[in-house]
Amino acid sequence: MTRTSRFPGFYKVTVQERRALVGDATGCDAADLERALEGGGIEAETADKFVENVLGTYGLPYGVALNVRVNGKDHVVPMVIEEPSVVAAASNAAKMVREGGGFTAEADPPVMIAQIQIRDVTDATAGVARVLSHAEELVRMANGAVGGLVARGGGARGVEARVLADDMIVVHVLVDCQDAMGANLVNSIAEVVADRVAELAGGRVGLRILSNLADKRLVRVRCRIPASSLATDEMKGTDVIDGILNASRFAQLDPYRAATHNKGIMNGIDAVVIATGNDWRAVEAGAHAYAARSGRYQPLAVWSRDGDTLVGVVELPMALGTVGGTLRVHPAARLSLRLLAVTDAQELAGIAAAVGLASNLAAVRALATDGIQRGHMGLHARSVALAAGAAGKQVERVAAMIVEARDITLEGARKALNVLAAEDGDAASAVGD
Ligand code: MEV
Repeated sequence: MTRTSRFPGFYKVTVQERRALVGDATGCDAADLERALEGGGIEAETADKFVENVLGTYGLPYGVALNVRVNGKDHVVPMVIEEPSVVAAASNAAKMVREGGGFTAEADPPVMIAQIQIRDVTDATAGVARVLSHAEELVRMANGAVGGLVARGGGARGVEARVLADDMIVVHVLVDCQDAMGANLVNSIAEVVADRVAELAGGRVGLRILSNLADKRLVRVRCRIPASSLATDEMKGTDVIDGILNASRFAQLDPYRAATHNKGIMNGIDAVVIATGNDWRAVEAGAHAYAARSGRYQPLAVWSRDGDTLVGVVELPMALGTVGGTLRVHPAARLSLRLLAVTDAQELAGIAAAVGLASNLAAVRALATDGIQRGHMGLHARSVALAAGAAGKQVERVAAMIVEARDITLEGARKALNVLAAEDGDAASAVGD
């Protein structure tokens, strides 16, 4: 097995052939891939154990981002997403990043926050001080409730407290969740310590729940791309860098643009989060709250220049697990982790953020050069071709025809299909078929 994420021409081969290639490069059996992904990975009976009132399941495309190299290691990165062009764009951008040495990722220890709200406090400042002076006791109490986590090397790490109003304080218990996302562990801890916290603070217990602003669990990913790797047919690489710096500055100055810039980052991140069975609403909530932490909504990724090299950095909370939750029961999520061959949740966080940075690079480079529609339209054309009834090799041919005719509509695709059918009929009669 040669571990690689480089598969030139991958998009041209069939789904079966792709499974074989990825199987070879990751040590997974192609039959395992087929079993885990056929029918979306779970049947209605299994879905019925996940949520309530189940009628069936809802499939989404499962693709892989290629060319992704993080901290010197190659990864075939599963992405579950319905939007055309995101997987291709991330793979393409990751190839450029690779030319500059790949992504460098670092993740904080997997520390989550359990929040305990205390209301009706008589003296909020004194309440905070008293809670903090009993931090060790609270940590011991919290650890008593999560023996398994403590045995695995995790557990409560400390206590923080803040005054929110004259009559209200909030107490945070910081919990190292190891390789779990941690929601259940953290919520249990919040509930276990709450009464004692209220007693210490001189108030009443309010809410007890984790915070999705997981800012103790940040991930940072950097990349450096030589100008030559960014050039297009029409634009020099250094001009592309100028355009990307302008896009980054625009996002820093304008929250309306920052929201779209961040949406492009989350295109990549969410797709990896979903493919690995993690809670993408939690990651989304954390990302946007973190983006607004200064009181002004900011881009999560920014771009700068170092001579003729473009430098990108993304930083955001990333509460991901590689054990527990959906992972235990969803074969496709388990397959994703096998394909990625990650050793822990921190490594997975780095990969997800790297794909987010790649997605952002692809978007801002497209916006700074051809505009987004050119690439998008090519891929959108494939969906339109499929919707018009094209199958197999017809899909690419019909897509190319409607792009060429600048008529990317169902009607246009149906006409193209008729033209193809007529041509194929002629060819068949020419060989006497
Ligand atoms: C579309 O899904 C995402 C983009 O709008 C992101 C961006 O504008 O940076 C292309």
